[in-house]
Parts: sequence; structure tokens; C-alpha cells
Amino acid sequence: RWVFAYTTPIVLNDGSKPAFYHFEIPLKAFQDITKVDEGRAYVIDSGGYLVADSSHVYNQSLNSAAFGQSPKDFFPSISTISTSPEFNEDIRNMLASNNSTNIGHVTYSGDGELHYIVFKRLPMFDWILAYEKPYSLMMSGNYNLDNLAVTLFVISLGVIAGGLIAIYVLSDRITRPIIDFARKCRNQDVSNLQRINPIGKDKEINQVIYAFNDMMERVNAIEKQKEEFASMVTHELKSPLTPIIGWCQTLKNPKLIGQLNSKQLNAVDVIQRNAKRLLQLVGDILDVQKLDLNRMKFDSQSVDVDELLNYMYNNLQNVMDQKNIKQINSTKEQLTIRSDRNRIEQVLNNLILNAVDFVPSEGGKIEYGAQSKGDEVIFYVKDNGPGISPEKQKKLFHKFYQIDTSVTRKHGGSGLGLAISKGIIESLGGKIWIESELGRGASFYFTIPKDRTKTTMSEKVIDIKETAK
Ligand SMILES: Nc1ncnc2c1ncn2[C@@H]1O[C@H](COP(=O)(O)OP(=O)(O)OP(=O)(O)O)[C@@H](O)[C@H]1O
Ligand SMILES: [Mg+2]
Repeated sequence: RWVFAYTTPIVLNDGSKPAFYHFEIPLKAFQDITKVDEGRAYVIDSGGYLVADSSHVYNQSLNSAAFGQSPKDFFPSISTISTSPEFNEDIRNMLASNNSTNIGHVTYSGDGELHYIVFKRLPMFDWILAYEKPYSLMMSGNYNLDNLAVTLFVISLGVIAGGLIAIYVLSDRITRPIIDFARKCRNQDVSNLQRINPIGKDKEINQVIYAFNDMMERVNAIEKQKEEFASMVTHELKSPLTPIIGWCQTLKNPKLIGQLNSKQLNAVDVIQRNAKRLLQLVGDILDVQKLDLNRMKFDSQSVDVDELLNYMYNNLQNVMDQKNIKQINSTKEQLTIRSDRNRIEQVLNNLILNAVDFVPSEGGKIEYGAQSKGDEVIFYVKDNGPGISPEKQKKLFHKFYQIDTSVTRKHGGSGLGLAISKGIIESLGGKIWIESELGRGASFYFTIPKDRTKTTMSEKVIDIKETAK
């Protein structure tokens, strides 16, 4: 490795020279110092001669044989420098004569172009480090600077992109639980608000969820109070109806408290009919409330399905005759189940009496019955009425829903029958549904587990789990 070496004796005050001071600068260091892409950097010694030159160094690799056997190639003698086309004597003299300043700049226009030279005197050897560049290039921008600008631009783009990704990730972390929470709120069944589970580990959103749960519990408590109040009021409404209907019956009997004329009898009859309607309505509302509050009590006793259907057949025959309807009990099996007979009868009644109002006045036909299927019995009520369109079928089992057609005007009621039926069937562990097409009659089906005690046991377990949550 080529080095630039400097050796000098250390002279003491008494004139003796006890040691030498020696140091070496690797030529590579000069190469690094003077490494420029544009313009030219060089070092000039105190005599104004070239010590190192960027253009020279660049043309010859330090390790290559281009240096030849002698460092003279790299550090040419005074005579070679002065004839070197790379070095301008004027500059050399100018820099060498510029003794008084340590740092500064000079210009020259030797080759017809204005050159700028910035120089600094290196204190130790009185050498000058100079950087020369044509004025035109000075102003036209520097390749390295351009490069640097591009690099900075790319880096800043990277920083911006990184920042955006960070913002996106962060905001996603923040907003996702909020959106999740909003969706859960929207999905709540307002008649039965449920607690919302905390989302992730985020503390802030969970504070909101806890607050929501507290509020929801208070709303549920108030809702329950309201339902209980309504239930009490309805119950109170029912009590006076029994004596009203009873006394109407008494008034109609001439043997009890005297004979009424036909106008009076008619009036009493209207009172009694309306009181009975009111009693039915109050009873239905009470049923709905009981189902909503989960307070309806159910039996689990042995039910002879065939006997139940025959009993209903006989009871209904009067109504069917009046309306000229053919009723068919198409049950083919002998079935005994363990369930609530009265509630099943109530549902069958609702379905059959609905059908009675919808079958045509001529040729009306209602077929009903039961059929065993696995652990369940499927009950059905089919009519040849106008049927129900699919979009209306969806709302059919909702409370107070009545289809608004001219036919329904003939059909009284308050739109509770099917809602109650659904509540009862589901409480008994079954399902209820309709199959119908407009103009093709309606068929209602419901299933009842053959043994209620089995299904309700498991239901209770689920219930307890649900409430524990
Ligand atoms: N078999 C049927 N054919 C055609 N439409 C029906 C039939 N059964 C029920 N519907 C329609 O469904 C509506 C809801 O029936 P639902 O039994 O719930 O109430 P309702 O009979 O009107 O009143 P309620 O039963 O409380 O006295 C009825 O109003 C009627 O429009
Ligand atoms: Mg009904």
C-alpha cells in the first residue's frame, strides 16, 4: 500500500536531535478526501506544487500497476507538474501567493471558461486543499446533490407511506371495536336487551360497553316493571267480566228473575256477546304477557291425541254446519304423548277458527290431524281459502299482525292468535310454520315433542346457562 510519509528530527533547545518524528498518510485517504464526481479537488504544497489530484487519482487505481514502480507517477516532480496538462500554473501561483488567507476562493478563466476554486490552507504543512469547478456546472446543479434529493424524496415518500400505514393500522385498531360495538347494538332485540361482551383488551371501548350494559340492565328492569303493571291491569280488567257475562245469562233465563221482552232480550244478548269478546281479548293479552314474561305454566300429562282431535271435531261441528264447511279429521294413528293438552287444544282452535273465517262460503273445506314423526308429532290444519303470499307469511306470527284485505273484514280478532300459538308451541319444545301460496289455500303445521319432560329439562339447563351469562 502506498503511503505518504513524513519524517523530521526532533531538535531540542540545546541543538541535540534525540529522536525523529515520523508519520504516514495512506494515499487512499487522499483519494477519499479528493473524491468528487464533478469538478476537481487537489492538494498543493507550500511551494505551489501538486501533492494529490482527484482527476489523477481517479484515473489510476491505487492498487493497480498504473502507479508503476515509483510514487513519482502519483506525486510528480515539480517539472512534471508544471508541464502536466491537468495543472494550471496560474492557479498554482495564485494559490501559492495567496499566503495571508487560510480559507477563501479565487476565480480564473484560463481555458475560456470561468472556473471557481475554493481553497483551505491545511495548517500543519502549509498545504492547500482546493476544489475547482467550472462556474456553469456550479450553477447547473450537482449530480450528487440531485442524487441526494432523489434519495431524500424516496426516503420521505417511504416515511409518509410508513406513516400512513401506521395511521391506518392504528385507526383500524381504534375504530374496529367501535364499529363492532355499534353492530352489536343494532342487532339487539329491543324487547329483550342482552349484555354485550367486552371487545378485546381495549380499555376505552370496554368502558363504553360496561356503561351500555349498566344502562341496558336499568332499561330491562323498567321494561319488566311496565310489563308486570300491564299484566296486573289486564288481570283486573278480566275479573268484572265474569259477573257481567253471568248476569246476562241469568237475565236471559225467564225462570230466574223474570221474563224480558224480545227487545230487552236482544239488548242483553248484545251485552253478553261483547263481554265475551272482551273476555277473549283480555285472555289473549294475558297469554301474550305470560309468554313474554316466561310465566305461562305448562302441564306434562299424558295426552291421547286421537281423543283430543275427536273431541275438537264434535265441538266444532256446530260452527262448521252454520258456515257450510266440511271438516275432516285425517289422523290415521293412535298417538299418546306427554304434553299440555289444553294448550295444544288452544293452538288447534286458533288455527281452525282462523281457517273457518277464510274458506269460501260454498265448498269450504278444513282438514286437520296429527302424524307421528320420530320423537315428535306433527299437527296440521289445511284449508281451501285464499292462501297467504310469502312476504306476508313472514310477519304472520308477529303480535297484532292482521292481513289487510277485504276478506279480513269478515274476520274479527286482534291479531294475537298466531303469536300466542307460536309462543305456546315453542314453549312446549316444538316449531310452527305455514305452507301456502296465494289462491291455493293455507296449511299450518306445528310439531310437539312426544315427551315434554325430556325436552324441557334440557331447555331449563340452557336457560340457566343463558341467565348466568
Ligand atoms: N287460514 C288462513 N287463511 C288466510 N289468512 C289467514 C289464515 N289464518 C290467519 N290468517 C291471517 O293472519 C292474520 C293473523 O292471524 P291471527 O290468528 O294471529 O290473528 P286474528 O285471527 O286476526 O286475531 P285473533 O286470532 O287474535 O283473534 C289474520 O288476521 C289473517 O289475516
Ligand atoms: Mg286468529
